[in-house]
Amino acid sequence: MTHSVNSIPVITIDGPTASGKGTVAQLVADTLHFHYLDSGALYRLTALSALRQQVALDNEAALAQTASSLRPRFEGGEVYLDGDSVSMAIRAEEVGNTASKIAALPAVRQALVELQLRFREAPGLIADGRDMGTVIFPDACLKVFLTASAEARAQRRYKQLIDKGFSANINDLLKDLNERDARDANRAVAPLKPAEGAYLLDTSNLTVNQAVEQVLGWYAAVKK
Ligand code: CDP
Repeated sequence: MTHSVNSIPVITIDGPTASGKGTVAQLVADTLHFHYLDSGALYRLTALSALRQQVALDNEAALAQTASSLRPRFEGGEVYLDGDSVSMAIRAEEVGNTASKIAALPAVRQALVELQLRFREAPGLIADGRDMGTVIFPDACLKVFLTASAEARAQRRYKQLIDKGFSANINDLLKDLNERDARDANRAVAPLKPAEGAYLLDTSNLTVNQAVEQVLGWYAAVKK
């Protein structure tokens, strides 16, 4: 057994789109003073770069090249690409949709593996995504699969977009969300599914704080 990296604890939080993972994961990270990996942001950054550089969205090799040349900087809740803050730009629905499509390409996923592993730094990491527990950090000490009903998720996404000043339509969001779920769950590589041994957390009727407390409680129990 190697020490160093593998002795650094990882908590994975995977789940479908707009399930509230990001908010819960960030708060758990803040409480434990752990690092935070928003792996979806890496797919979104790849999508944004590809759109900006007009890379053809069916050119897997070129998209993988875009992914492996990403040098994002995460700082104070913001993400920078080549010195520019792109925190807002990567949240646009077009970017999210493109991210969801290119995330189905094996070469793109492979190109992002190393970058994700580098987030594992002392004293620990909360990794948020779709395949954190199944593929990227299979040795995580706690794996959570966080879900919520499609309606609850559409409401949350709606509120999130409106708060950020984007316009949104609840029915379009619901349709979009169902399509994204289907793509994430049915792709051949790293499909969205609970990791073996994952704790299931349905947040449809939970407040953010209740969800955070549950994850912290599970972590306290496995840490012993
Ligand atoms: O906001 P939303 O939950 O839709 O997406 P996100 O977590 O920001 O991730 C953007 C897209 O990247 C998702 O639609 C997924 O298809 C993909 N993704 C993935 O395939 N694997 C991950 N570990 C994280 C995200």
